[in-house]
Amino acid sequence: MPASTILLIDADPAFAETISKALTSVGYSVTVSPDPAEALPKVSDHRLVIVDVIAGERTGVDVCREIRETPSMASIPVLCVGQTDDVEDRIRFLEAGADDVMARPFDARELEARVQALMLRFQRSKDIGAVISPDGVMVAQVRRTIAVHSPKGGVGTSTVATNIAMAAAQRKPDRVVVVDLDLQFGQVATYLNVEPRQTLADVVRDEAAMREPELLRTYATKHDSGLHVLGAPHGPEQAELITPDHVDKILSTLLETYDQIVIDTGSWLDERTLRAFENAENVVFVVNPEVATLKAVNLLVEYLNEAGTVAAKSMFVLNNLFSREIVKPRDVEQALGSKVDAELPYDPFLYLKAVNEGNPVVLGAPRSEVAERMTRLSDLVFGVNGNVPPTAQSNADRGPSSRRRDRRLSRPTSVSDRIWVG
Ligand SMILES: Nc1ncnc2c1ncn2[C@@H]1O[C@H](COP(=O)(O)OP(=O)(O)O)[C@@H](O)[C@H]1O
Ligand SMILES: [Mg+2]
Repeated sequence: MPASTILLIDADPAFAETISKALTSVGYSVTVSPDPAEALPKVSDHRLVIVDVIAGERTGVDVCREIRETPSMASIPVLCVGQTDDVEDRIRFLEAGADDVMARPFDARELEARVQALMLRFQRSKDIGAVISPDGVMVAQVRRTIAVHSPKGGVGTSTVATNIAMAAAQRKPDRVVVVDLDLQFGQVATYLNVEPRQTLADVVRDEAAMREPELLRTYATKHDSGLHVLGAPHGPEQAELITPDHVDKILSTLLETYDQIVIDTGSWLDERTLRAFENAENVVFVVNPEVATLKAVNLLVEYLNEAGTVAAKSMFVLNNLFSREIVKPRDVEQALGSKVDAELPYDPFLYLKAVNEGNPVVLGAPRSEVAERMTRLSDLVFGVNGNVPPTAQSNADRGPSSRRRDRRLSRPTSVSDRIWVG
């Protein structure tokens, strides 16, 4: 496993500090190396290389070319920093094989956005489901890691996570795992009526298992359906054993042995949740048509917008938790400042029965509308059966500026009108 995610080759200590601070503050781990000779052997242990100021005989362009010409490093994205805004400079970097070039001076947010975009692009092209057309355009994007979250509990996060994982496992038995990162009081095992003998708390005590896919598989509990479950620790006191780096390691090792991963990240935002978001290709936020949830989601999206680029891969699922329509979907979208990607119907009986029997709706009532919607949602988030989930790019097209504008609306007028009429 890499000791860090990003390798920064930089002979200027002040610049190196600025760049690594900007990136570590949003959850990346960064190794700085001033000397290319010392740095090059480490390149292939990282997910991204940044080439900044290079001292001595070699130039940044030389270092970039060297990385590109070495087959073992060819799959690692390289971001080069130009010391001036000179076009010729940029062209030289691009000709040397840089995947992206950024010129000084730059803003920390630009740096984060470029790093995130590069990582996503390279992660995707490694995805088993990436289908590239002859002209080099990605035509299908099968996703592999999906996080499900809500800043408020009791809104259907675990219900969504278990059902979309189950629907995925029905397509691919033994190839899908659901990870319960709701570390303190995770309910995924209960919702599936399995009793994990070993949980994430046991996994993190086993360094080898976090590294070796086949060993890690032995920690998962198998449901009769073919869905595998990596359970949450047995109690809150064990939850603290799991660190953000463990989350990174476990999720990347799981990808080597499962095709698809669903992570229930519960309702608690911490560094571990953020790492799960970072590892996921899409983050599904479950929202209810209710002002408190919408406010919480707004605050979260605002925070994520400022702290990094997770917002760019967010999807919203509107879960109708109430028998009456109190807030209209249109008003929910207005309050979110974003489109709702899927909607789940209210049902007075099916969800509750599923929880009490530990049998998700997609298994217990496969012909119900709830099950159909869950299966469609699973297809959508994983980009299968012709579905194209939103990408960082398409979300950017939907306009972060519009999201930013709308999230200021603490209570859309139509919502306040309706809520009291209720
Ligand atoms: N659309 C819905 N209609 C009715 N009940 C629902 C709906 N979605 C979820 N529920 C019920 O709400 C409760 C909370 O769901 P859960 O998935 O545990 O939420 P969370 O993981 O966000 O805390 C469960 O009892 C579940 O059965
Ligand atoms: Mg839950």
